[in-house]
Amino acid sequence: MRTKTDVDSLFEPRGVAVVGASHNEAKIGYRIVENIVKSGYQGGIYPINPKGGEILGRKMYESLSAVDGPVDIAVISVPEKIVFDTVKDCAAKEVKHLVIITSGFSEVGNVEEEQRIVDFAHEHGMRVLGPNIFGIYSASASLDATFGPGGILPGHVAIISQSGALGVAMIGKTAAESIGLSALVSVGNKSDIDETELLEYLAQDEATRVILIYIEGVKHGERLVDVLKTVTRSKHVVVIKSGRSKRGAMAAASHTGSLAGTDEIFDNIMRQCGVLRAESLQEAFDWARFLADAPVPKGKYGVIVTNGGGIGVLATDACEKYDVSLYDDQKTLKETFAPVMPDFGSSKNPVDLTGQATAQDYAKALDATLEKDGMDAAMALYCETALFDVDKFKEILRREYERYKGRKPIIFSLFGGDNVDHIIRTLGKDGVPVFSSVYEAVSCMGALYRSWRNLREEPEAPELYDFDADAVNAIIEKARGQGRGFLLADEAQEVASLLGLPMPHSIVAGSIQEAVDAAEQIGYPVVMKVVSKDIVHKSDAGGVALDLDNKKEVVDAYQAILRSCRAYKKDAVIKGVEVVEMAPPGVETIIGARQDGAFGPIVMFGLGGIYVEVMKDVTFRAAPISRREAQGMVSEIRSYPLLLGVRGEKRKDIDEIVTVATRLSSLIHRCRDITDVEINPLVVYDRGEGVKAVDVRILFKKRPEVK
Ligand code: ACO
Repeated sequence: MRTKTDVDSLFEPRGVAVVGASHNEAKIGYRIVENIVKSGYQGGIYPINPKGGEILGRKMYESLSAVDGPVDIAVISVPEKIVFDTVKDCAAKEVKHLVIITSGFSEVGNVEEEQRIVDFAHEHGMRVLGPNIFGIYSASASLDATFGPGGILPGHVAIISQSGALGVAMIGKTAAESIGLSALVSVGNKSDIDETELLEYLAQDEATRVILIYIEGVKHGERLVDVLKTVTRSKHVVVIKSGRSKRGAMAAASHTGSLAGTDEIFDNIMRQCGVLRAESLQEAFDWARFLADAPVPKGKYGVIVTNGGGIGVLATDACEKYDVSLYDDQKTLKETFAPVMPDFGSSKNPVDLTGQATAQDYAKALDATLEKDGMDAAMALYCETALFDVDKFKEILRREYERYKGRKPIIFSLFGGDNVDHIIRTLGKDGVPVFSSVYEAVSCMGALYRSWRNLREEPEAPELYDFDADAVNAIIEKARGQGRGFLLADEAQEVASLLGLPMPHSIVAGSIQEAVDAAEQIGYPVVMKVVSKDIVHKSDAGGVALDLDNKKEVVDAYQAILRSCRAYKKDAVIKGVEVVEMAPPGVETIIGARQDGAFGPIVMFGLGGIYVEVMKDVTFRAAPISRREAQGMVSEIRSYPLLLGVRGEKRKDIDEIVTVATRLSSLIHRCRDITDVEINPLVVYDRGEGVKAVDVRILFKKRPEVK
């Protein structure tokens, strides 16, 4: 048995066979051979078709076994029924990678055949790209083994696409927008090679500066998170994910046979990884094109240069939206722009040269910005006026861009009629980042700065709390032995105390007398809750009594709880009643963690009550998280100001929230049998006064029933 190959040789193969190379120009098998030949690939090209003959003036081989040279890639473009036999031929030829174009596998429910191919391939040291794909392009090998329209320009953007049709269309789109590619890979059903492995390769590929991923569903999210966190240290990663809307998610799920994860979770986790998520394909392409050539900013302050006040205000709004800081030292702004400023212009940022400015004034203002230390990026806006000679202006912009593009990030936004459109088209084709919309332009600058901030931040290791995981697992195992999938209150508290979580004082009482003793020991007021493996929703069963102030109320409540619970479920086994210290009021938050279908262990934080239920003001991270990531969760929710203290209230104990979040993250990361854990509420007090985990619920995988 050969060992499994890594993906490197997929991008630099010594020889490529096309199995199913057709004589018919209208067929996919013909197009692939044509693209390989036209792209200038220098390795061995082996079209395979049992009929033999010639294709594009080259020999058509009757079988793989007739090929002399090494074949690292076999592009398979034969009908589904004969793919497996073809794969067997590939194994005999010691092919390394199967690039299976053919559709009709897991995406239409034919999971077994797909798995049979992958298993066989692995047994014979082969890797599988696809099936259900349009192929692969590698600039380093000058190889276009796709059935796209051809004409791919080599460059610095790598594209990984889960969608075939969109991926093919991207070939035309990138060529039309002069976006050069370092690689383009179609992953289709991701039966073996997925985006994670491709990212690992692209991370060390020198030509690649930006990686653009079109994704429909995440399969091995935990590994993906690890890899993305590393890749974003050296490359810009832009992701565009379909399935934002509920209907979109359903369409994506049926499209590729993989379930699209919940959009908020995906969104939050991508941000956690330093990935830029684009709203639309156009935005993704705009970002990719800009980021591929933009230099690393030296600092965070941008300057807007404009000849129109209104467009300047729009750009200022866009800077706020996309988090681009504006240079604000008014004295320096005045000194810098006074020599080029008309009388009624404004040197405040936006630097407004007014409609009276000429193309030369404009060039001088741009020079002044780009030569000035501390002015780190330029956003140059232009509203069409009669004072500009269009051709001259076009050349000025080109010259400014060429002169400064390696030193400072620059974007242009021009607004006007046909003349302006002509400039945008011409300069755009030559790679100058020029847009008609101010928002599109500033959005690119915002993407660069987000990526830059991520790169500047020292990575912080996850905070792994060293708790007794064996003891937690033993508690779960015992409960599981009783056929349960959840922990009782006292068991959940045991887990919480193993994690060192601050909880209200509580005692389980098996009789009225024990309940009274417990209440006196804890101190009034107390809360009482039923403890029964048969009652999960205690309030619904009348199993909770709040705010008990004295012995009589405890006695009455004990009897009432037992009575209601028996009425709710006649044969419920009641272990007793938990007497709990009544936590003083504070800000109610909720912290949860669970095993997510796409990303594995994840953590959630939000404000409790209506904030979580109605406003869905929650945020997620992939576990395990660092303290900084936990802090980021807390400050990211919309109701964060409530924790900072509003209307004269003191700041709340955010540090303690962070500690609890990292502990739940450690729990869900290490104890994989736990499916859900939720502290609701986690009551938060003023800074220095801590938090209290008032209710802890833990669910786990039940033991499968033996039939
Ligand atoms: N070895 C090599 N070649 C063979 C073999 C063999 N064992 N058996 C047959 N062939 C030849 C055929 O003779 C034919 O050549 P010819 O045209 O010269 O006679 C060639 O292989 C192709 O076989 P066909 O039966 O003609 O199959 P066709 O080309 O119509 O379809 C294909 C094959 C394209 C793989 C099809 O089954 C398919 O899956 N199409 C969908 C592809 C797709 O969309 N992929 C998804 C992503 S891209 C996107 O969505 C845009």
